[in-house]
Amino acid sequence: MRSKITVVGAGNVGATLALRLAERNYADIVLVDVVEGLAEGKALDMLEAGPIVGSDSLVTGATVNGSAGWEPTAGSDIVVITSGLPRKPGMSRDDLVVTNSKIVAGVAKNVAAHAPDGMLIVVSNPLDAMAQLAMAVTGFPRQRVIGMAGVLDTARFRTFIAQEIGASVVDVAAYVLGGHGDTMVPLTRLSTVAGVPVADIIPKDRLAGIVDRARNGGAEIVNLLKTGSAFYAPSAAVAQMVDAILLDTWQVLPCAAYLDGEYGIHGLFSGVPCRLGKEGLVEVIDVELSTDERAALHRSAHAVQELLEVIDAKHDEIGASIPTLASVATIG
Ligand code: 2OP
Repeated sequence: MRSKITVVGAGNVGATLALRLAERNYADIVLVDVVEGLAEGKALDMLEAGPIVGSDSLVTGATVNGSAGWEPTAGSDIVVITSGLPRKPGMSRDDLVVTNSKIVAGVAKNVAAHAPDGMLIVVSNPLDAMAQLAMAVTGFPRQRVIGMAGVLDTARFRTFIAQEIGASVVDVAAYVLGGHGDTMVPLTRLSTVAGVPVADIIPKDRLAGIVDRARNGGAEIVNLLKTGSAFYAPSAAVAQMVDAILLDTWQVLPCAAYLDGEYGIHGLFSGVPCRLGKEGLVEVIDVELSTDERAALHRSAHAVQELLEVIDAKHDEIGASIPTLASVATIG
């Protein structure tokens, strides 16, 4: 039987992702949205591209409203949550926390009801907090809830490094740890071009500029677009994670994972290198960090914990009957 992937949200990220997955021809795709007809229309359009691109993926759309309309998603192997508001210029991802918590909690409840054995990939922002909320609402184990951020953040970092020195992007390997936010931690020490550390090739001040640009990569695009945020690179990043899971490649990709002691962090999502396979998160790779790098990662984890405190304080408004999130987390 073909695998089934549900993409929740038929906006720019969701629709572009659905198209990328459909073109891979390895699964059937269900695209859902709250806007009447939007998912159905985009799905039909993608389906009709099948004969041209040579894909037999069955792409269907469905309109959901609260707990109604989710039947087509039943038994999904993977569910990707892209729903939520994007940032506007001047906003940080954290400004979205209450609004998107309501949306993500509602979606997660329906995912747990209709795809109880599925794998969840969370894309909505603020990413690490939304992944943690989705895990709490679904009650899924950490192996089956993964956040997309690191693949995107490292892709930005790799792009700018490659541009700086005229290298091929595929020769650039980069590490970005921590939350998908202003405190993310690009690790220059472990980033290389064809095996050579970037610090040996790029002058310190130029490298600092690249780190800064990668850290603000999402905002750079929001400011250019004015309405909406990035979607080509984010959807490519999710598709790479889906490849690793569906094809059971065991590729190590930087993702947001629920840490259980790795890096001295317990009970909190943060961006770390993750081995992905058909069981989802196969293992978190616990890389030895310098004192400064570890402190930066812990600062980033504290920023995620603060967002969880906001969610805890607004439980009633968010409507998720879940245990408190922030107090179980310990850092350091
Ligand atoms: C970004 O960094 C949307 O958070 C996403 O572009």
